[in-house]
Amino acid sequence: MCGIVGYVSDSGLEVEDLIWGLKKLEYRGYDSAGIAYNSDHSIKYLKKSGKISEIEKALVEQNILKESFYSGIAHTRWATHGVVSETNSHPHLDCKKEIAVIHNGIIENFQELRNYLEKRGHMFTSQTDSEVIAHLIEDNYKADIFEAVLKSLKELKGTYAIAVIHKDRPDEIVAARKGSPLVISHSKNMGMLASDVTPLLKYSKEMNFLNDGEIAVIFPGNYKIYDLKGNLIDRKSISISWDETLAEKSGYPHFMLKEIFEQPNSLKSVLVGRLVDSEPKVKEIESLEDFVKNRMKKIYVVACGTSYHAGLTTKYFTNKYSDIDFEIEVASEFRYMNPPIDDKTLVLAISQSGETIDTLEGVRKSKEKEAYILTISNVVGSTIPRESDAVLYLNTGPEIGVAATKTYTAQIALLYTLVSQIIYWKNGKSKEIEDILKHLKDMPKVYDEILNKTNGHMMDLVKKYKDFKDMMYIGRRFGYPAALEGALKLKEISYINAIAYQAGELKHGPIALLDETFPVFAIVPSGNLREKMISNIMEVKARGAKVIALTPENDKQTKNICDDFINIPDLPDCLIPLVVAPITQLFAYYIALEKNLDPDKPRNLAKSVTVE
Ligand code: G6P
Repeated sequence: MCGIVGYVSDSGLEVEDLIWGLKKLEYRGYDSAGIAYNSDHSIKYLKKSGKISEIEKALVEQNILKESFYSGIAHTRWATHGVVSETNSHPHLDCKKEIAVIHNGIIENFQELRNYLEKRGHMFTSQTDSEVIAHLIEDNYKADIFEAVLKSLKELKGTYAIAVIHKDRPDEIVAARKGSPLVISHSKNMGMLASDVTPLLKYSKEMNFLNDGEIAVIFPGNYKIYDLKGNLIDRKSISISWDETLAEKSGYPHFMLKEIFEQPNSLKSVLVGRLVDSEPKVKEIESLEDFVKNRMKKIYVVACGTSYHAGLTTKYFTNKYSDIDFEIEVASEFRYMNPPIDDKTLVLAISQSGETIDTLEGVRKSKEKEAYILTISNVVGSTIPRESDAVLYLNTGPEIGVAATKTYTAQIALLYTLVSQIIYWKNGKSKEIEDILKHLKDMPKVYDEILNKTNGHMMDLVKKYKDFKDMMYIGRRFGYPAALEGALKLKEISYINAIAYQAGELKHGPIALLDETFPVFAIVPSGNLREKMISNIMEVKARGAKVIALTPENDKQTKNICDDFINIPDLPDCLIPLVVAPITQLFAYYIALEKNLDPDKPRNLAKSVTVE
């Protein structure tokens, strides 16, 4: 989703620095990009459709990559209003080209504002909603850019994170937020802002996350935050422990592969201090214990995409080991429902980024209904955690690849531990759960083995399957959310039409799709549903479809009837989504490589979906 970054300095930043910052935002997903900077008392700008490298190329050709500037802003656009084009890219400028604006979000009353501004003589060049902001600020400008932005914000409806520079104020950037993320920071000589911390970590670890309805002026070495009435807000920054090098590829060809291989470590980090021996000790949230013991009647998960799959897996877990009422809904539906929740409901908002707008609105709806909101997120200080009653962070380090990998498996590990804790609080300890938690604690080692064994095998396997246009993933019970997530990974980064079904549902429709052009990925753990899965595989084979089975090593019978197989450890069924995940992630990754696609930046997708 759109990314914004801005730097202001009194000690000679170069245009190249702005490009560097922009590249840090690439992972969010974009289709065009642009920069504007203040140099020699004028605003210079450059915009291009396509990759940031297009801008870089143009800067090199014009010999201005090393040009110095005082204040500069840059933007990656993910088209919403108006086609992907150079003119629709940001920054947008006013008529006199003295003001440059970048914007993330959607201005809902843009047409009304545009009509009004056009009547007043403003000339528009793009089809975007964002351009009205530049002209509105120009219209309100009376020698003070801060005042002009402040006045303009009051006329905007919708969501925004904006950054504005004016040719006469090379020493400042004005930024504001409503509904779209914005973080500001400063070092000794610099001031800075961005949609997330990745373009800032090189300069500072102290971050201040703007709240909705706040406006900031950022100077070299300092910043000030105000509310929309112009009152100064005194809020301390938060220290971010992420290391900048964590956001680098460390020798891996892609972030996705790096993040898949980081999972043994991220599974350790997420469980440290929370799963001690085989005891759940999620004590970071003291108020939760009291709530669970004395009030809680229901758990309700709100989430999107991969986070939803982690939630669904947790529903099966809770349902297997307790009688706690557990419901789940995708956030984009939940926000428009009349959800059956109240002050006795624990709402679990699961969001890697902590910024997904649908999940955020789900949280706001839950708040209206007085539920207790606990967020599971990976991004410290992001919006959803800040609007929740409590938060548990995944501590996996930044996830840059657009397709979630390490955060998904960390979510499941944390959610299992959390739910076990809740079950203990409500019902007392359980031997069965203790046994699962022992396995969970060992999961980093299990992952080391799976990754080492599967990686090489996968490179050969994908050659057989890369040219299929469709693929189906099937599983039963815990195998079902694992199938959903496997299919999502494949469609996200390889653009293969991958669909997932509960294996028992095949006969109610999906089996009509199957023939030799439609391979099936079957999740076949040991246990009471194994025989049923084998019957399903027989049905699939009878239609001529190829089958890849995920089975424990000793399951010769399944292996004999399938075209290909990948070994999975023979563990209790609730751990199947965890052991299947790295395999389906690698499968999707290598298929994308075979098809010459960039797995880190899938088309049309964004890492952080901050518009509806
Ligand atoms: C986007 C991403 C998905 C992610 C979903 C939810 O669609 O492309 O990978 O699962 O958002 O994101 P969240 O940050 O809320 O977990």
